[in-house]
Amino acid sequence: MSKELGVGIIGCGNISTAYFSLAPLFKGLKILACADINADAAKLRAEEFGVKAQTIPELLANDELDVIVNLTIPAAHFTVSKAILEAGKHVYSEKPLTVTLEEGKELQALAKAKGLAVGCAPDTFLGGAHQLARQFIDEGGVGRITSGTCHVMSPGMEMWHPNPGFFFLNGGGPILDLGPYYIANLINFLGPIKRVAALTSMANPTRLITSEPLKGQSIPVETPTNIHALLEFGNGATITLSASWDVWSHRHANMELYGTEGSIYVPDPNFFGGVVEASGRNKDIQPLADWEHPFGKPNQESPQGPRANYRTAGLADMAMALIEGRDVRCSIDRALHGVDVMTSILKSGHEGNFVATTTTCTQPAALGIDEALALLR
Ligand SMILES: NC(=O)c1ccc[n+]([C@@H]2O[C@H](COP(=O)([O-])OP(=O)(O)OC[C@H]3O[C@@H](n4cnc5c(N)ncnc54)[C@H](O)[C@@H]3O)[C@@H](O)[C@H]2O)c1
Repeated sequence: MSKELGVGIIGCGNISTAYFSLAPLFKGLKILACADINADAAKLRAEEFGVKAQTIPELLANDELDVIVNLTIPAAHFTVSKAILEAGKHVYSEKPLTVTLEEGKELQALAKAKGLAVGCAPDTFLGGAHQLARQFIDEGGVGRITSGTCHVMSPGMEMWHPNPGFFFLNGGGPILDLGPYYIANLINFLGPIKRVAALTSMANPTRLITSEPLKGQSIPVETPTNIHALLEFGNGATITLSASWDVWSHRHANMELYGTEGSIYVPDPNFFGGVVEASGRNKDIQPLADWEHPFGKPNQESPQGPRANYRTAGLADMAMALIEGRDVRCSIDRALHGVDVMTSILKSGHEGNFVATTTTCTQPAALGIDEALALLR
């Protein structure tokens, strides 16, 4: 395999800007072309970032491309990823991998049959803060983790996203949209999940868009917007996960994990950086000493201040894994297990039972400072 993979993008909407602008930080990949069901969207990004705009069939047949990144909406992920595999190319997909477990299993089988890789976001667990927490946990800093709580709750997406309808359709909702960040990070810390139970509800059957350009439009809500889930891990840890777009304000932390020797406070799994805190049995909560992890260094301004954003690190890790012949950290097995957990949560909410997962995965290898530096140009 060559030292640099040619990359194409299908889906030139909101998040594509992050991929186009951050990919040049990384070794092993070069974005060459893009396509979208809306040709104007592809043309706009192509002009902005100096790549070739193609139709979807042209992109799929483009010999220069080894990997195609799927940045379409969740409901289109399966069809688009399947077409990429059928065209003989590796896939890297935005989350969620698919909106049903069956679709995800079909992609896994197809990739295996064709000898191709499928990687999937989120890659934020590769961030400096989460890898610092991973190292502290692996070294026994809080003993054996037995329980924890996760909260991702806000008033929703219709006040900022330019086209928020898909968030409220089947395949959207806070658990499939934001759950992946939490589940991927929990798999990073604790490994796979055995069974789940959940209560689910929705505050309103429609939502009013207040962001431009669709301000004033009413959109239907097809999926629960408020979820309280219980997760039982293979290692025995029990974690609660609350995901909601029906909450105006709250005082819960994003992620707290409780061990036999202490507790660890993990910053927002949707971002790469942040402060990790921990306490021992003395209950004295202190920040962990910062480390010079490259994916924790602020590289962008945001309304909340400087922020570390290394989205595409997962794609870069996949490219280097293919070049070096090693395991992909954001692998299809882990993403599929995530889909299993999230769809089981929704199923449990619907049926009122515990639901056992039917897939499993391994913990990804940690990404220490040296391994992260090796991904950067
Ligand atoms: N926006 C964010 O901040 C963000 C962050 C992380 C992840 N994501 C994920 O990225 C994905 C895209 O989100 P977005 O916010 O960019 O959405 P978006 O609606 O802004 O963009 C999606 C693009 O995909 C195109 N598209 C839809 N169906 C298609 C198809 N069948 N074939 C080709 N193109 C198609 C649309 O025309 C549009 O240009 C979602 O899976 C989302 O969960 C978004």
